[in-house]
Amino acid sequence: MRAGVPLRRKGAVAQEGMCHRRPWFRRPRRAPIVGSMFAVYAARIDRDQPLSGLELGERPAPEAPPGWSTVTVRAASLNHHDLWSLRGVGLPEDRLPMILGCDAAGVDADGNEVVLHSVIGQTGHGVGPDEPRSILTERYQGTFAEQVAVPTWNILPKPKELSFAEAACLPTAWLTAYRMLFTNAGVRPGDSVLVQGAGGGVATAAIVLGKAAGLRVFATSRDEAKRKRALELGAVEAVEPGARLPQRVDAVIETVGAATWSHSVKSLRPGGTLVISGATSGDRPSHAELTRIFFLELKVVGSTMGTKDELEDLLAFCAATGVRPVIDEELPLDRAREGFERLASGEQFGKIVLTNS
Ligand SMILES: NC(=O)c1ccc[n+]([C@@H]2O[C@H](COP(=O)([O-])OP(=O)(O)OC[C@H]3O[C@@H](n4cnc5c(N)ncnc54)[C@H](OP(=O)(O)O)[C@@H]3O)[C@@H](O)[C@H]2O)c1
Repeated sequence: MRAGVPLRRKGAVAQEGMCHRRPWFRRPRRAPIVGSMFAVYAARIDRDQPLSGLELGERPAPEAPPGWSTVTVRAASLNHHDLWSLRGVGLPEDRLPMILGCDAAGVDADGNEVVLHSVIGQTGHGVGPDEPRSILTERYQGTFAEQVAVPTWNILPKPKELSFAEAACLPTAWLTAYRMLFTNAGVRPGDSVLVQGAGGGVATAAIVLGKAAGLRVFATSRDEAKRKRALELGAVEAVEPGARLPQRVDAVIETVGAATWSHSVKSLRPGGTLVISGATSGDRPSHAELTRIFFLELKVVGSTMGTKDELEDLLAFCAATGVRPVIDEELPLDRAREGFERLASGEQFGKIVLTNS
């Protein structure tokens, strides 16, 4: 946007209406700050009470340096990463205030509908194999705002088959699940996979993608209603965390960490692969199961996000198959705090999406 020109804030003048699932209401009128925009950001770090550092308010509108572009955000989705950021994981105090949000779908300066790849390379012109990378919100301002600036290389066309809300779920949780399954677990149609913590964003993605790719998907969840939802998504069986499965699986998709680690290792067939991309419940399991890992020649593979090519493939996969992200709730951006509270409670099933009207 041009310096000195206030960003048009549609939400500030919109009439009362409905988003897809929840009513949205007239945003209270604020005096616009020149060159500013409404945003949801980390103002302080609090390891124990992460939401106490969350602020909603005016932040400077982004200015795109050469090679970067500004995108008007139509939808952005919450990730557990945003809670980690508020706890100071990957986000030191000296980078605050930081607009949160790793994912977005929106409209570029030419009016094209786009999706962002949120892994940013060192120079902004692509991400080389050995290049230090960061995810939006670590070094660069995130997507819970009216606009975001990213390297032009990181902008992909949004398939017309996907809504903005659906597309906004893909760049972090869904891309991570896609890479875990199809790159790092290396499973093939007919193989079996265990997905831990079925209600999570990555986990619901792994269940849906696994089912669509012809895998036999088992899932765990602490909650009975979520286990039922996992079955509806296509899992062949959904059990309590730690419960014995009817068979040993070829691969495990692990994001819960300490609470489910031992069960993940014990659920693998000899030579099977445990892919881990997160540790929501902590990264120090009481039993590392080292003997089982070497004796059964299990593979433990770390996984983080995915490449731009993988995101392109994921977008094409969704467009071609009719697979769509599982959306727990859509909220307008100015009700972001409710979304954060729901994510922190662990009650969600699937993705929470913030929309800009
Ligand atoms: N490396 C990467 O690139 C990458 C990318 C995305 C995410 N992640 C990480 O992966 C993790 C999941 O992310 P997300 O966005 O999918 O999170 P999320 O939507 O908040 O899901 C977390 C899920 O973990 C399960 N869970 C939480 N605490 C548990 C416990 N004590 N015992 C058993 N299950 C528990 C819950 O499932 P139930 O309620 O069904 O039991 C919950 O729904 C996070 O730690 C995140 O940082 C990493």
